[in-house]
Amino acid sequence: MSADLLVYGSYGYTGSLVVDHALASGLDPILAGRRAEPVEQQTAELGCRHRVFSLEHPTVVADQLADIDVLVNCAGPFSATADPLVSACLATETHYLDVTGEYQVIDRIADRDRDAEQAGVTLLPAVGFDVVPTDCLAASLASDLPDATRLELAIDGGTTISQGTAKSLVEGLGSPGAVRRDGRLEDVPAAWDSREIDFGNGPESAVTIPWGDVVTAFHSTGIGDIEVYTAVPETGITAMQRTRPLGALLRTEPVQRLLKGLVELSISGPSPEQRAENVCRVWGRVTNDAGESTTGRLRTPDPYETTKLTTVEAARRLLEDDVSSGFQTPSTAFGAGFATEFEGIERVE
Ligand SMILES: NC(=O)c1ccc[n+]([C@@H]2O[C@H](COP(=O)([O-])OP(=O)(O)OC[C@H]3O[C@@H](n4cnc5c(N)ncnc54)[C@H](OP(=O)(O)O)[C@@H]3O)[C@@H](O)[C@H]2O)c1
Repeated sequence: MSADLLVYGSYGYTGSLVVDHALASGLDPILAGRRAEPVEQQTAELGCRHRVFSLEHPTVVADQLADIDVLVNCAGPFSATADPLVSACLATETHYLDVTGEYQVIDRIADRDRDAEQAGVTLLPAVGFDVVPTDCLAASLASDLPDATRLELAIDGGTTISQGTAKSLVEGLGSPGAVRRDGRLEDVPAAWDSREIDFGNGPESAVTIPWGDVVTAFHSTGIGDIEVYTAVPETGITAMQRTRPLGALLRTEPVQRLLKGLVELSISGPSPEQRAENVCRVWGRVTNDAGESTTGRLRTPDPYETTKLTTVEAARRLLEDDVSSGFQTPSTAFGAGFATEFEGIERVE
C-alpha cells in the first residue's frame, strides 16, 4: 500500500492509541500535531515520519496535506480543528476522518457534502465509539422496520475519560441539548428528557444528551425524529437539571478556561487495565406511526479501545480508495454490519 496516511493530534491520548494500532496493523502513519516536542518525541520512539504544523493558516495546512491520501483528525475539541482540516482536505483531494462526537461539527461537515463530491473526497467524521456502534445499530434497526419514523438510541459507557474528552464535555457545559424533530435539529434544555432504559440488565435511568447521532443517524436512516440518551443515576439527572440556570455563566470564557485548566491538572485518561476491563452497552429502538417497534442492543469494549479499532479500519479502507465520495456516516460508508466486524462488539439480547 503506497498511499499516505497522516494522523493529526498523534501525540494526544486517543491519537497515540490510533497510531500504535495503525502500526500494529501494518500501516505507516505520518505523525503530526501543532507542537514540535511531543511529535518529535513520539517519532523518536516509534520511528515514523512526522510533520509539525498548526491550523491557523489555510495555505500552510494545505501545503502539509498536499501529498496525503487520508487524514485522521484526532485533535479535539473538534470545534477548533475540524473546519480548517476539512477545508484543506477539499483543496488537496485528501479523504478526511475524525473521531468527533460533537454534533455541531458533524453537521457542518455534512453541509460540505456537495464540495466533497465535486472534489472526489470522502468526509467521514465520527468513526470512533461516537458514533460507530450507535450508527450501525440505528441503520440495522431501520432496515428491519423500513417505515420507522422515530429512533431512540442510548449509551451506557461508564468509564474514566481522557483530557480531550473532558475538555469537549466542558465546551458543552451550559449549552442546550439537541434532538431531531421532523428532520430538523432542535435545541432542547440540557437533560431535557429522562426515562428508564433496559440495556440488558434491567431498567436504568437515562437522560437525553446531544450525541453525534442526532446528525449521523438522520443521514444513515432518513428517520426524522431522533433522541439519544445516556445512562445516568437519578441524582445525576437532578443535578444536571438544577444547573440549567448556570448555563450562561458556564459558557463564559473565564469559566471555560478555569475548567479546562482543572481538566489538565486532574485528568489523564483510563489506564490500559481500566480500558481492558470496561464494557459499554448500546440500546436502540425504532418505531413506526402504527406503534410497531424493533429494539436492539450491542455490547462493546471500552470507548477508547473501540475508537482505535474502528478508526484504523476506516482509514485502511479509505487508503484503498473504495468508499463513495461526499459526506458519509460509518454505516453509509461501510454498511450497518461494520460495527460488529470487530472483536468484542456484538449484538446481544
Ligand atoms: N469518537 C469517540 O468515541 C472518541 C474517542 C476518544 C476521543 N474522542 C475525542 O477526541 C478528542 C481528543 O481526545 P484525546 O483523548 O486524544 O485528548 P488529548 O489527550 O487532550 O489530545 C488532544 C490532541 O489534540 C490536539 N489539539 C487540541 N486542540 C488543538 C488545536 N486547536 N490545534 C491543534 N491541535 C489541537 C492536542 O495538541 P496539544 O497537546 O498541542 O494541545 C493533542 O494532540 C476529544 O475531543 C475527545 O472527545 C472521541
